[in-house]
Amino acid sequence: MNITVVGTGYVGLVSGTCLAEIGHSVTCVDIDEDKIKRLEKGEIPIFEPGLDALVLSNVRVGRLKFTTSLPDVIDKTDVIVIAVGTPSRPDGHADLQYVYAVAEQIGQNLKKYTAIVNKSTVPVGTGKEVEDIIRKNYSGEFSVVSCPEFLREGSAVEDFMKPDRVVIGARDDRAAQVLLEVFKGIRGEKLVTTVESAELIKYASNAFLATKISFINEIAQICERAGADIEEVAYGIGLDSRIGPRFLKAGIGWGGSCFPKDVEALDQMAGMYGYDFKLLSAVIEVNNDQRKHFVAKVMEHFEGKLTGKKIAILGLAFKGNTDDIRESAAVDIVRMFAENGADVSAFDYEATKNAQRALEGVAVRYAEDPYDCVNGADVVVIATEWPQFIELDWAKVARLVANPVIFDGRNLFQPERMREHGLTYISIGRNGEFGDQKS
Ligand code: UGA
Repeated sequence: MNITVVGTGYVGLVSGTCLAEIGHSVTCVDIDEDKIKRLEKGEIPIFEPGLDALVLSNVRVGRLKFTTSLPDVIDKTDVIVIAVGTPSRPDGHADLQYVYAVAEQIGQNLKKYTAIVNKSTVPVGTGKEVEDIIRKNYSGEFSVVSCPEFLREGSAVEDFMKPDRVVIGARDDRAAQVLLEVFKGIRGEKLVTTVESAELIKYASNAFLATKISFINEIAQICERAGADIEEVAYGIGLDSRIGPRFLKAGIGWGGSCFPKDVEALDQMAGMYGYDFKLLSAVIEVNNDQRKHFVAKVMEHFEGKLTGKKIAILGLAFKGNTDDIRESAAVDIVRMFAENGADVSAFDYEATKNAQRALEGVAVRYAEDPYDCVNGADVVVIATEWPQFIELDWAKVARLVANPVIFDGRNLFQPERMREHGLTYISIGRNGEFGDQKS
């Protein structure tokens, strides 16, 4: 099939490339000329494992093309995927101006039946609005479909190729059939729903996952007070197949470009429908508190005074395997430590440049490698779950630091392993008020 993807951000580029990989002829459209030129040369603007190779191979065989002009390709396309950004407005509502602008352009240029697929995360009712905008300028046949994405940064290609489910929110059977054909090459359950249900499935999924994490972080608080071990508790509850083991990792909380924005937007959306979503407000509050508790713990270790203390922060990205620092708990705690007078050094495998930009004006030494980062530190803080941190030479870290104290905000280690290196290891929700310090 001929598919046009509008927007070459994270969702658009991954979706377009993967649709090409399963055999479709795909054109990705973006108004950013420079970005399109770079993509044509095979330069990928984001860090996503496996994506660059896939872009290159599909460009080489001619299944993946890039352009800045939707009108130039619209006649030849069977399906248009809208994958433009929906950032949060200051009031928490999703900003839909980019989605509306694409709908306007589609309406002005459409000449034959086309399935218009919305992949951007949009509030319930947006599918209908997109339909109305197109209808203003085009009286022929078309269908608007909601097909939300469930890609995680860092494993987006695999998530697209091997999804748990593909949700197709269609108003008519013709559109549903077109979309089933689009995803024919992908295994995983295909669920056809109404447009509105599909739109809500996206928000409800992210909100539920964020709730799971905030829930386990609150249980971690209880563990610390009650002397229980959060890793054992999470494992124990996760064995119940009704709960499941995933997204039960306690830590300094969730961040990224999706959970904070979508949880907030769902909370706002509920309000618009006259419903007070009490649980979600608490989920957000718990998440904000989690990073503050963590910083407070480090401060407590220094008896409230961080001035001049050398704090080495391992990790800046909002999670491992990404260069994304949006709403990153790690960046937040860097800021909090620096504001409290600490002498902060920081290291990340991919996110340093982005963090530098976000932390402009904040005094941070950006280290070349993890060992450089921890050199002479009074405390080492693990803030991002990069798998490489697990493989570090921790005996070497113990030799390099001024004081052998690790605060692990991501529970990456078995406490015994760190103790073997003579490190005092303090983590989240394990063994008493101060993590593992007491045992
Ligand atoms: C999330 C969803 O997982 C995807 O399904 C969804 O498609 C995507 O948002 C989106 O809406 O576009 P992503 O933002 O890439 O994906 O990140 P996650 O892997 O879900 O992690 C989110 C945050 O939760 C990270 O800060 C991570 O450190 C944290 N987390 C995750 C935990 O603290 N504990 C866990 O057990 C899991």
